[in-house]
Amino acid sequence: MAGMAAGTAPETTTTQALDGRTLRSALGHFATGVTIVTGIGTRGRPVGVTANSFASVSLDPPLVSWSLSRESPNLATFREGGRFAINILSEDQQSLSARFARPVEDKFASVPWFPGTTGCPILPDGLAWFDCRVHASHDVGDHVIFIGRVVAFEERGGAPLVFFGGRYLSAPDLYEPDLSEPPSVR
Ligand SMILES: Cc1cc2nc3c(=O)[nH]c(=O)nc-3n(C[C@H](O)[C@H](O)[C@H](O)COP(=O)(O)O)c2cc1C
Repeated sequence: MAGMAAGTAPETTTTQALDGRTLRSALGHFATGVTIVTGIGTRGRPVGVTANSFASVSLDPPLVSWSLSRESPNLATFREGGRFAINILSEDQQSLSARFARPVEDKFASVPWFPGTTGCPILPDGLAWFDCRVHASHDVGDHVIFIGRVVAFEERGGAPLVFFGGRYLSAPDLYEPDLSEPPSVR
């Protein structure tokens, strides 16, 4: 690129000039899996939210995290319930993801589930699930980060639902990954 000083990025957006849409678009370059995080409210009412903010945090003790918008009508349930379950979605569960990404009243109508150890809903047919007790929660900006201690989990396998650039993908080369070798990164 003639005339451009080395190291100058022409499309740099400074955080002073930040608008949420541009930042969201840039963040969308990070490909993630998709989860439905579930909880259980008063009188046993199941709640669930599509979330790609899930991350593994620690193996010993076993901790995972996710973050929830402070505008979510389900925030009080997750805060007061002290538990949540992470359900990792398969490539066949795109419509389930879309359903739990809308603020509708009864997301679980005609959705099969069974209670995990904590009572939180476990969805059949996902790749894996992690049933957790809340270890810590932190109000950070416009979200609340929940860190959970895994009390039960199951690995089922299969091809993942992937979210990238604001779209769902199921990449053929993600099929049947070889997980027999321990990962080379820590
Ligand atoms: C792929 C995907 C990932 C999402 N990840 C999150 C997330 O990590 N945290 C969050 O608060 N909302 C996330 N959302 C948006 C929520 O699913 C959406 O706001 C939903 O309405 C929340 O449910 P509620 O309004 O019943 O609380 C995501 C949506 C999609 C489609």
